[in-house]
Amino acid sequence: MFRFRRLRQSSAMRDMVCETQLYPKDFIYPLFIIEGENIKESVESMPGVYRYSIDLMDEILEKIDKSGISGVLLFGVPEHKDPMGTEAYNENGIIQRAIRHIKQKYPNMVVIADICLCEYTSHGHCGVINGEHILNDETLPLLAKMAVTTVKAGADMVAPSDMMDGDVAAIRKALDENGFINTPIMGYSAKYSSAYYSPFRDAAGSAPGFGDRKSYQMDFRNGKEGLREIENDINQGADIVMVKPALAYLDVLKAAADKFDYPLAVYNVSGEYAMVKAAALNGWIDERKIVTENLTAMKRAGAKIIITYHALDMAQWLKEEYLK
Ligand code: PBG
Ligand code: ZN
Repeated sequence: MFRFRRLRQSSAMRDMVCETQLYPKDFIYPLFIIEGENIKESVESMPGVYRYSIDLMDEILEKIDKSGISGVLLFGVPEHKDPMGTEAYNENGIIQRAIRHIKQKYPNMVVIADICLCEYTSHGHCGVINGEHILNDETLPLLAKMAVTTVKAGADMVAPSDMMDGDVAAIRKALDENGFINTPIMGYSAKYSSAYYSPFRDAAGSAPGFGDRKSYQMDFRNGKEGLREIENDINQGADIVMVKPALAYLDVLKAAADKFDYPLAVYNVSGEYAMVKAAALNGWIDERKIVTENLTAMKRAGAKIIITYHALDMAQWLKEEYLK
C-alpha cells in the first residue's frame, strides 16, 4: 500500500510539498471610476465593491499600492453616452483622466485599460450598431482610438473586452503607428456570453438596451472554439490571453494552459464574486477559505494572472498566513 498520508501529517510537511501557492502579485483588481466629485457608491449586487470618482480614488489606490497585487483594470462610468460611444476615446474622458491621476501618483502600479464601448454607448452594446445589428468592422477603429488615448494618458497595457473579430490586430496596428510599440495587449480571448456578468453591468451601467451579447461573445457550449479564439488572438499579436469567466470554465483554462506558451489570465467575474459574498454574508460558508480554494483552483488550472474583486482581501489573507 502506498501511504499518501505520509506527506500530509503536518502543516509544515504539507506546505513543503504543495504544488500551487498564491501570491499577492498574481492578482489584478478591477476598478470602476465614475464621473463627478465626492462619490463613493456601493454596488448593491457586489458587497465591498464601490464606484469612485477620481477625487476619492486614493483611498482604494493606497491600499492597492501597499497590498503587493500587480495592478488595476479600469472601467469608466461616463456621464454622457451616445450611439458611437464617443466618451470612450475622448482624450479627456473619465478613463483617460483616471489613468493620468493614477500613473502620476502610483508610477509602479500596472494600469490596464479595459477597451470596450459598452459603458459609453447609449444602447449598451460593445460595438456600434445599425438597427439591431452590431457592426464589427466599423467598431474596430473606435476601439483602436480608445486604446491610443488610454495609452497616451499613461496606461501600461490595454485589454480589449469587446469580442469583435480583429480587435487585437486593429489595436496593435494603431498602437504601433503611434509609437507605442512596447505597450502590451491582453486579449479577452475566450470570453463567453455569461449570466455571471450581471452584477458588473449594474456597477458599470453597461447592460445592453436591447437583445443580448450572443452574436459576439462566445457560446458556453463550446470549449474547443475557446482555444481557437485564443490562437487567433495570439496570431493577431496578443501578449497575454484570457479565459472569462473562471469557475465554470476551468476546463477551457486548463486546456489553454496545456496548449499555449503565453501568459494566461483568468477573470473571476462579478457574478462569481456576488455568489460567494451572498453566502458568506449569510454565514453559510467561510469566505476566506472558499475564496482561497477558488483562487487556488484557478492558478492550479494554469492561470498566471487572476483578475478578481477578491484581490485586496486575498492579498491581506496571504500576508497574515506568511506572518503567522
Ligand atoms: C465589458 C466587460 C464586461 C465585463 C468585463 N468587461 C461585461 C460584459 O461583457 O457585459 C464583465 C466583468 C465582470 O462580470 O466582472 N465588455
Ligand atoms: Zn463591452
